[in-house]
Amino acid sequence: MIMIKNYLSAECPWRDTLLIYPQTGSTNNDLKKMAADGAPHGTVVVAQQQTAGRGRMGRTFLSPEGGIYMSVLLRPSCKAEELLHLTCAVAVGVCDAIEKSCGSRPKVKWINDLIIDNKKLGGILTELSLNADGTVNYAVVGIGINIGAVPAEVADMATALSADKDLVTAAIIDRLSCMDLMDRKALMHRYRRDCITLNQQVRVMQTGCTGIATRLTEDGSLVICRDDGTTVTVGTGEVSVRGMYGYL
Ligand code: BTN
Repeated sequence: MIMIKNYLSAECPWRDTLLIYPQTGSTNNDLKKMAADGAPHGTVVVAQQQTAGRGRMGRTFLSPEGGIYMSVLLRPSCKAEELLHLTCAVAVGVCDAIEKSCGSRPKVKWINDLIIDNKKLGGILTELSLNADGTVNYAVVGIGINIGAVPAEVADMATALSADKDLVTAAIIDRLSCMDLMDRKALMHRYRRDCITLNQQVRVMQTGCTGIATRLTEDGSLVICRDDGTTVTVGTGEVSVRGMYGYL
């Protein structure tokens, strides 16, 4: 039985816009279609399993039954450049929810990987739709978390929570629905504390650039100091952290 609604706080503003599907392709895709049809801020889609789960960089996110697969529709009134920190903000909220419901707080590998014991617990996929004037039409934020077991294909680098899936899902919905996701300064301050990438040797996969990740800007970009003393700022892209996922 799906208990998410029973676990949600009575005041949760997203309670009536929560949809739960037994199976779907991708909850992000579902919500993008619903957003185009006018679905309101705070619409949430949760699926028991996904057949075409997507991660960042065009990757597949394996989504067998048992894990958490959910997406949230946000309609903030702001310009796109004011929302570049959104993945970081949601990561902080998801860590808050996991800490509250499970007792231990994951770390975050920049920018969207949730980490426990140096292994990937899950990830966040943020997709923005913009209006012609550069303002945000909507943001869909997808969250995937392994629960109980990890797919054999990723067993060497993934981990899972031992927890009640519905309880954790409700905690995430409760937390995200009451956070001020636009409070960029405070959220980035908190993200920096959760982020394991800072002060580590890193490599930008797309360019091969290596160096020490010295700083996170207020919009969530990572500043890397190279061996020759020059710096590069990475706003999107994939960054490996030495010692993790096979990067030696
Ligand atoms: C990543 O690890 O790169 C991000 C993974 C995000 C997966 C979630 S599961 C719910 C939502 N629907 C998707 O297709 N992807 C996200």
